[in-house]
Amino acid sequence: MSQKPKNRVELDKMRKAGELAAQTLDYITPHVQPGVSTERINQLVHDFITEHHAIPAPLNYRGFPKSVCTSINDVVCHGIPTEKEVLAEGDIVNIDVTVIVDEFHGDTSRMFYAGEVKDNARQLVESTYKAMWAGIETVKSGSKLIEVADAIEAEAKQHNYGVVREFTGHGIGKTFHDEPMVLHYNAGHPTQMKRLRSGQCFTIEPMLNEGTWQTKMLDDGWTAKTNDGKLSAQWEHTLAVTDDGYEVFTLSPAGYKLPPYG
Ligand code: MF3
Ligand code: CO
Ligand code: CO
Repeated sequence: MSQKPKNRVELDKMRKAGELAAQTLDYITPHVQPGVSTERINQLVHDFITEHHAIPAPLNYRGFPKSVCTSINDVVCHGIPTEKEVLAEGDIVNIDVTVIVDEFHGDTSRMFYAGEVKDNARQLVESTYKAMWAGIETVKSGSKLIEVADAIEAEAKQHNYGVVREFTGHGIGKTFHDEPMVLHYNAGHPTQMKRLRSGQCFTIEPMLNEGTWQTKMLDDGWTAKTNDGKLSAQWEHTLAVTDDGYEVFTLSPAGYKLPPYG
């Protein structure tokens, strides 16, 4: 089975959800500075989303305790905001926002710099961004998800970065994590061989590691870290397949691309 293509009305709802998710990241941008706690970021994200009459999807999702994921340095994904965790000069952090608007999900994440970051960190962040876009650009009606994976791996290979395997992109709509599973590496998996159809919606959200692709799970059951303690970066967009390509729902209304922003 593959995801049922969304109709015009459903796609319009995806557009609205995607836009609010991207707007939330724009809004948070000036607040991401050395000295700010990840709990403060969580509060700002939570309030912005609820003030826009939307729901922060992570909150209570399978027991996740907060409204946003904040993943610093060697945290690969699903970092849990806390009061004690404060951004330090030179940190890189992924902020992953998912909103529900009129029952539909918009899911997007970006990387941010706390102050000035080292060249190796910047290179990882920029390469991961390129990898995400290389993956997105393969998408059109009739293409296959294996092309997304191949494009991401080709970029990672340029720098010998590991492509995380344990976490994937996903179909999205009324369901947060739907089919298809969107692997970011070529696993020769049957789901990577199916032809995409116009109206199908999913995320592309590669995580690239400076070192090994392997991760370890912390005791909190959510936080995934690199196995070797080296840096990890991630970018995520939500998109739809169209007849001649793709439509990205989560582009920054402010026009932000790579950090530093503004
Ligand atoms: N937003 C994440 C994704 O890209 C999922 C977060 S689930 C949570 O799929 F529970 F950790 F919030
Ligand atoms: Co996602
Ligand atoms: Co996400």
